[in-house]
Amino acid sequence: MNAREKPREEGPISRADNPSPALTPVPALQPPATPQRSGAAGRSHPHESARAQVAGSATYVDDIPEIRGTLYAAPILSTVAHGKLLGVDARAALAMPGVRDVILARDIPGDPLLATFVHDEPVFATDTVQHIGQVVGLVIAESVMQARRAARKVKLQIEELPAILNVRDALKAESYVLPPVFVKRGDAAQALKTAPHTLSGQLEVGGQEHFYLEGQVAYVVPQEQQQWLIYSSTQHPGEVQHWVAHALGISNHAVRVECRRMGGGFGGKETQAGHLAVWAALAAHKLKCPVKLRLDRDDDFMVTGKRHPFAYDYTVGFDNTGRLAGLKLMMAANCGFSADLSGPVADRAIFHTDNAYFLEDVEIASYRCKTNTQSNTAFRGFGGPQGVVLIETILGDIARQLKLDPLDVRKRNLYGVDERNITHYQMKVEDNILQPLLSKLELTAHYQRRREAISAWNTKSPVIKRGIAITPVKFGISFTATLFNQAGALVHVYTDGSVQVNHGGTEMGQGLNTKVAQIVADELGVAFEDVLATASDTSKIPNASATAASAGTDLNARAAQYAARNVRDNLAQFVAGLDACGAGAVTFSGGLIHSPKNSRPFPEVVRLAYANRIQLWSDGFYRTPKIHYDKTTLTGRPFYYFAYGAACSEVAIDTLTGESRVLKVDILHDVGTSINPAIDIGQIEGGFVQGMGWLTTEQLVWNDKGLLTTHAPSTYKIPATGDIPAHFKIDLWPEANREDNVFGSKAVGEPPFMLAISVLEALKEAVAAAREGVVRLDAPATAEHVLAALKHPEPRR
Ligand code: MTE
Ligand code: HPA
Ligand code: MOS
Repeated sequence: MNAREKPREEGPISRADNPSPALTPVPALQPPATPQRSGAAGRSHPHESARAQVAGSATYVDDIPEIRGTLYAAPILSTVAHGKLLGVDARAALAMPGVRDVILARDIPGDPLLATFVHDEPVFATDTVQHIGQVVGLVIAESVMQARRAARKVKLQIEELPAILNVRDALKAESYVLPPVFVKRGDAAQALKTAPHTLSGQLEVGGQEHFYLEGQVAYVVPQEQQQWLIYSSTQHPGEVQHWVAHALGISNHAVRVECRRMGGGFGGKETQAGHLAVWAALAAHKLKCPVKLRLDRDDDFMVTGKRHPFAYDYTVGFDNTGRLAGLKLMMAANCGFSADLSGPVADRAIFHTDNAYFLEDVEIASYRCKTNTQSNTAFRGFGGPQGVVLIETILGDIARQLKLDPLDVRKRNLYGVDERNITHYQMKVEDNILQPLLSKLELTAHYQRRREAISAWNTKSPVIKRGIAITPVKFGISFTATLFNQAGALVHVYTDGSVQVNHGGTEMGQGLNTKVAQIVADELGVAFEDVLATASDTSKIPNASATAASAGTDLNARAAQYAARNVRDNLAQFVAGLDACGAGAVTFSGGLIHSPKNSRPFPEVVRLAYANRIQLWSDGFYRTPKIHYDKTTLTGRPFYYFAYGAACSEVAIDTLTGESRVLKVDILHDVGTSINPAIDIGQIEGGFVQGMGWLTTEQLVWNDKGLLTTHAPSTYKIPATGDIPAHFKIDLWPEANREDNVFGSKAVGEPPFMLAISVLEALKEAVAAAREGVVRLDAPATAEHVLAALKHPEPRR
């Protein structure tokens, strides 16, 4: 058992390798300043599905026993990035064994456009194709392989049109999916004029494939009287329901969508699961059979959207100490061929351009560019990372220009507590813990001493250079689409005292069901094992929001807590009647219900209550308080609170090959009072490593025809076990959420992703140790990009 596998149930909430013995130990963090709790929440319960997942018995959509007569679909993909679709010749495919039919746009009974927000995306390409991999139709066959082979034999007659393949070309052509948005505070032009120094630069940051372990899949089963049951691997069952109903031209109430769990979503199944469900439903509708559609990995890469690549031009002013004085920024998002969620993604990038820093005079122009590539979508951080990476790049550049410690420059620009605390979108930062958090990490990671040691080491090492960097994160929690910040839940208590909870969220590995069950167990004073969370189902909780924006627990665990509280109140009233006391005197703990006179087992009270016709189930509803903002100016309070964190990363580069390695990572992250420390630490680790992949090895390459050439793990490199830093130490900030949030916790799903920006900054420090001048290092920092950064003393154009 290595140090990182130690049980974490008791003892301090940290996962630590020992720091290097040569360094002085720093006192451990104090435990959370909250009352000691003896219940289910606040402990490292294993994930509710962990055992089943390890045993291979956890059910995913493709594991559901199939109904006799089930047919299989495979997509027909455009082979041209932009063109006029003149004809589809499916004769050869239809003649192949097992092939039943070909489904095209003419088979759509409802709207030929998907029910997306912007309503700009065809279900199947019709007159034009807009990217290589766009779905033109489906082949339906009696086996998966028959369908896939036949789909390759469908001939598309396409007249090629000029294609726009990257964001800079789209900008030049003013090719947009949505109009630009301009945000301004103060007078950036004036500030830049009077600033002692200015710096201008450009940056490009790549996209990212979600690479969920379970690919996109939908299984559509027709029911009686034009009703539909859909098993979908989706973060948003309600939207799948709505899209399918819209495409079939029927009412939402006739479509039921169920999702027990996903094998990862990471944002990639927020909208894009809907496409598969709609496609499979159209085939099932025409053929009156159950139809399953699962994309193979290569097709998943070719068809579905990814993280938005961004390009930036900036001019920044600053004084001799590195304090910012004016920023003019152009940020352009590569949205692909349709809008999808690009509006809110680009908005979140604007909201996170400040990251942790006070931007007094700032002017941002945000472009939402249309290109002939896959339609980019939500991905962990949802535009936030693309905002944060830019300001961290700028602060690193300023420090290197002024020959200052980048950490000093970062600290100098942090939001203040009582001053310099209004964001560029006019929200007051009320819960700022950045200063103490950064200082603590600086100490515990031994930043100063290691920085000196690294600098000395670099002077003696001609080929290998090391770098170290600390970057903070401040991430806004709430959906930027304010209406999504609502949730519902149902809690059922059965007559044996066992409890079922159902809520509008979805489980994608993040541990939402585990946390919800912990909260419900404590509300009823029963054991975690007595509470079962069941599959997300549109017929149980209607109109549920996507499980996204990291808000799954904040929203659904609260709704479930309220539902459980209603049942508990009913039981308390009942016991008060039995024991002639006030209901307020009845308490629930340890599987018992206590009154001043008696303590009775929970199941016994439940049985008695049932016999006395007391309601043993309830709904619960929650909506996030305090949030509001103006969608046109992007000003107000879009976020209920902020989640904070910081990471210290040390890297080494080989200046001859450009190869790099992450050596050591220390993280101090704020999850408020943790509902489940093991799950939260897992989210921090996973988020960080996924962010590291985005910024280092994961490169999407489209060729000059617009073909994505990196569409499998052979060419697209996500981090592997060997890439995990040998020293990977995570501590949790010991303070409850200052806003009233469930259990005093904070959202954790996305914020740690941005901690990986410390890796990119450390790489730049290593490059800077090898040569003079400003470092321009585009992301991902592949070996080629690191070499380019080493070779170009001037910013490249
Ligand atoms: N963790 C796992 N294991 N799998 C996932 O797909 N998605 C991330 C994050 N952590 C994801 C994950 C994303 S993009 C979000 S928004 C949150 O989980 C969503 O879940 P939550 O709101 O319940 O944290
Ligand atoms: N995050 C994730 N998904 C979303 C958001 C958001 O802020 N807004 C709308 N969909
Ligand atoms: Mo997460 S990108 O909000 O699904």
